[in-house]
Amino acid sequence: MPGKGVVCCVIGTRPEAIKMAPVILALKKSAHLSPYVLATGQHSRMMRQPLDFFGIEPDRDLALMKEGQSLDYITTRVLVEVGEVLGEVKPFFTLVHGDTTTTMAASLAAFYRRSRIGHVEAGLRSGNVNLPFPEELNRIIADRVAGWWFAPTEGARDNLLREGCDPSRVVKTGNTVIDALLLATEKVSTPSYEPLSSIPPSAPVMLLTAHRRESWGEPLKGICSAVAGLIAENPDLWAIVPMHRNPEVRRVFREILSQEERVILCEPLDYPDFIWSMKRSDLILTDSGGIQEETTILGTPTLVMRELTERPEAIEFGTSLLVGTDPDRILASARRVLMGNREGFSGASAKGELPFGSGGASEKIVKTIEELFLIEARRDSSRGGPDTIDPEE
Ligand code: UD1
Ligand code: UDP
Repeated sequence: MPGKGVVCCVIGTRPEAIKMAPVILALKKSAHLSPYVLATGQHSRMMRQPLDFFGIEPDRDLALMKEGQSLDYITTRVLVEVGEVLGEVKPFFTLVHGDTTTTMAASLAAFYRRSRIGHVEAGLRSGNVNLPFPEELNRIIADRVAGWWFAPTEGARDNLLREGCDPSRVVKTGNTVIDALLLATEKVSTPSYEPLSSIPPSAPVMLLTAHRRESWGEPLKGICSAVAGLIAENPDLWAIVPMHRNPEVRRVFREILSQEERVILCEPLDYPDFIWSMKRSDLILTDSGGIQEETTILGTPTLVMRELTERPEAIEFGTSLLVGTDPDRILASARRVLMGNREGFSGASAKGELPFGSGGASEKIVKTIEELFLIEARRDSSRGGPDTIDPEE
């Protein structure tokens, strides 16, 4: 029997850390594979928070982040430095996740090193290469160079098949964020961040997160003004606002919300505190992708402040509603939800199957790679030597 096959898991940002964590934990349990965790450090503290929570220490952290980093800076550094690590480690398989610039550049680095590449959360498409920017192009490139596709939903699978991906290598898994959420929920009790405990038990609560590049500037100001307006007209309402670390984002949040009463304007919350906040809230306002997926399980009504979505399943399921970034529309929709009126939301969630699955995605991914590893190991032993990278694949 050969040694274990090394699976290099590349992560760079908070959502990659959260969604890859259960895959890394499943790889640790595998009899045939072992993870090599390669952090690019596109994010510093925000990537480390969830890794620490899940007890994962990267084998290597390239610590690339710098203040005000540009897309070309991240792309070139990840491409060169991930390529060098892959050259040293020579993994059996490389896994990238999602749609960040780490994902795109690392998949390209793996392609140049002729590694087998699996894309976790493959096949999402908004249909507009500029929305979200630059994530739509990032995920298209990652899917183009990957050789195995772990599609979270049937819709994502259909997108990949339409684009000509080999159906035998497109595996519908569900989304690994559900695995992460279920693992973390076991540990959620009372919040560790003290100001959250000061919210009166009967008070209505809304949760706000926003960070997308296309929201910077005027849209973000409009979003924050809408939140200030809701607080002013609802004397019992509280808002939890964990600020993304991007200086472009926090400048606007601070400018408009720092003097507001009943607004907990804070640093990014640890994953369990954030889950507590999502559960505690009557309404979530967000432009995040992962949160739309998580609320399909948690059930909290979610207003998605984007013009287009690559996650139509959350809208069709009825936990999310697409409201754009116009403050008047956000205000009107939020008022309705806070009054218990779900106008505009689909009613499918009452009977529908959970769109992003109910767990077990990580195990399906690991099983697929294990099967491949065992086939390759048998082939190598009959050939008399290992062949880590087969250009014919
Ligand atoms: C990135 C991803 C986006 C993803 C988001 C998740 C790209 C182009 N963007 O956006 O797809 O949805 O992460 O949160 O890949 N910063 C810190 N500490 C941190 C993290 C960020 O100080 O831990 C600051 C730095 O000044 C950094 C800036 O935020 O330069 C921007 O980070 P970057 O990763 O370039 O973009 P995000 O907006 O975080
Ligand atoms: N999240 C967190 N703390 C916070 C805000 C978000 O742990 O203060 C989690 C959230 O539960 C979700 C993920 O971060 O799993 C979403 O990350 P983000 O919004 O940064 O990225 P996106 O999903 O938009 O790519």
